[in-house]
Amino acid sequence: MRQILVTSALPYANGHIHIGHLVEYLQTDIWVRFQKMLGNRCIYVCADDTHGTAIMLRARQEGRSEEEWIAEMSEAHQSDFAGFGIEFDNYGSTNSEENREVCNEIWKSLRDADMVVEKEIEQLFDVEQGTFLADRFVRGTCPKCGSEDQPGDNCSNCNEVYSPVDLINPVSTTSGTKPEVRKSIHLFVEIEKLHDFLAEWTQSGTLQKESANYLKNFFLNQPLKNWDISRPGPYFGFEIPDSPGNYWYVWFDAPIGYIGSTAQWCKANSEQLDDWWKNDDCEVHHFIGKDIQYFHTLFWPAMLKTANFNLPEKVHIHGFLTVNGEKMSKSKGTFIRASKYLEHLNPSYLRYYYASKLNAKVEDIDLNFEEFESRVNSDLVGKVINLASRSAKFVAQTGLSQNYPDDGGLFEEFAAAGDKIAEHYENCDYNKAMRLIIDLADKANPYVEDNAPWELKKDPEKASELQDVCTVTLNLFRQLVIYLAPVLPDITAKAGELFGEQLTSWEQSKKPVTGIKIGKFKHMMQRVDPVRITAMIEESREESEASAAASTIPATWSDDDAALQAEPLADEITFDDFTKVDLRVARIIEANEVPEARKLIQLKLSLGGDETRQVFAGIKAAYEPQDLVGRLVVMVANLAPRKMKFGVSEGMIIASGPGGKDIFVLSPDEGAVPGQRVH
Ligand code: 2FM
Ligand code: ZN
Repeated sequence: MRQILVTSALPYANGHIHIGHLVEYLQTDIWVRFQKMLGNRCIYVCADDTHGTAIMLRARQEGRSEEEWIAEMSEAHQSDFAGFGIEFDNYGSTNSEENREVCNEIWKSLRDADMVVEKEIEQLFDVEQGTFLADRFVRGTCPKCGSEDQPGDNCSNCNEVYSPVDLINPVSTTSGTKPEVRKSIHLFVEIEKLHDFLAEWTQSGTLQKESANYLKNFFLNQPLKNWDISRPGPYFGFEIPDSPGNYWYVWFDAPIGYIGSTAQWCKANSEQLDDWWKNDDCEVHHFIGKDIQYFHTLFWPAMLKTANFNLPEKVHIHGFLTVNGEKMSKSKGTFIRASKYLEHLNPSYLRYYYASKLNAKVEDIDLNFEEFESRVNSDLVGKVINLASRSAKFVAQTGLSQNYPDDGGLFEEFAAAGDKIAEHYENCDYNKAMRLIIDLADKANPYVEDNAPWELKKDPEKASELQDVCTVTLNLFRQLVIYLAPVLPDITAKAGELFGEQLTSWEQSKKPVTGIKIGKFKHMMQRVDPVRITAMIEESREESEASAAASTIPATWSDDDAALQAEPLADEITFDDFTKVDLRVARIIEANEVPEARKLIQLKLSLGGDETRQVFAGIKAAYEPQDLVGRLVVMVANLAPRKMKFGVSEGMIIASGPGGKDIFVLSPDEGAVPGQRVH
């Protein structure tokens, strides 16, 4: 029995899980389920990656604490994962005490090994936000080619790589202001001290070929660059114990989160952390995307090696997801959140589809929705589930035959295929495993068609033959389900109910079941409905557009002065003049047309309690009465009543604009209540 610890990359707590992320979590979950079926002692740990500037700014923008924000995201992430049947043994957070402890331990080892150096560096500082700016929060003109509006680290026009301080006319994307260059001390890890070790380790078979080749370049006749692992405050993260005011950079404590999360699991399960992370018998397997291999194959092993933790046995690196042959796109609606997918489609579809595409190479995979529909419908519904739906009902009364009938060698052939299928799972060649399984299904189906149980059913004398044919068909179905179990836990559970046993072990595929009762056949999977795919894409597009519109922070504002020209500022008044006007928050509780008046709407405003006012407002060209009811507005509450043709107006509501359709009624922010004075 192997002892295996498995991780997926820790998702950032500043965004939701989408179908691109799911490639990795499903790939890992399938591998873990497979290992567990083999009987290996295997745990799967993950956590939210919670630190860094992005989260700090996001929390500020939302007017909340970072802790509150990351707690909400953690819940959302975990519910998305659960919705897709992704089962962690522990899901933690990098912002946990367990993680801080491991960070301290690794940090101490780096210090003891004399691998930490200090250096003063220049960075851009956003004065308005009071924070240093990470590269991606700055834009400006490329210092090389002069191309405008380029990101902080490299130019999309000429590909020049530079430091944000070299940008011409830099602008902070969070505040729209011009940042200053400021100096500060940073701490660096000298991974060059492990040059030879890393050069060898990266070529030792732990990594896929493509990845090992990519890394060779970093070692060729040059030292490895020092790694900047500190950030001055304010920063949301762990303060470095022996460097007050400085925090570990998010990429320092993120991978340590793998160990922190394991520590949590150990506490909950009375296990020893060292048994998993300082034990030659335990294999550590990381699953990550190709964009973060640099961190996992250079910095991370350097930290582990220095602090005497297990090095990964394998780092499984996958490519990106494209949808219909293109990068996921918000405007095309193919940037699909996990939760949005779940509103429309069965998670088993995606689990199977990804499995049918994934291989052991660092290759991008494409989600083509036409292929998605046809594969699921033809392979799963048409070839696998169909076996049960065409046979189970005929043995609901009798159960299976006492002895396994002659099936022409099919069962044995299916059992013999198990080793090859297992090998493909082990190597992450899931596409090959799925191919073999569907090839087997292609042999089971002719058996059912040739023996036509629905025909046998018509002839009472063929009852025993019918039972035998269904016994064979259901046993072949059962084998296929066991082979698919890592991919389709939901179908496996339903099939288990049919056979009155849980299908949790690979070994179960080796021996037929006979003489057992068969449960009532329940529908296991519907065909993919293409209308739901279209709806999912359309809603994703609309929601992306709405949130982009809501979150656009313009880098500069270019309001013109037409409004001021049209109505110049009034003469100065004293504060006392101002306080004479009693402005109050009011709620519109009734709004009616005044048929005889072209411009007016009659409003009934509540100031809270029984206090109401009638106001005639000249806003008819801009508003429909029914749209106003319920709204909070600001009113002049102490204006002398004015007798009008249609009744008395007891105040005014505040609005801006030149008139006609261009009238904008002002509303207080959320939280204001009727009756409050506006100061
Ligand atoms: O790229 C990312 O989404 C990171 N949050 C992954 C971190 S993986 C590990 F190092 F924690
Ligand atoms: Zn350039």
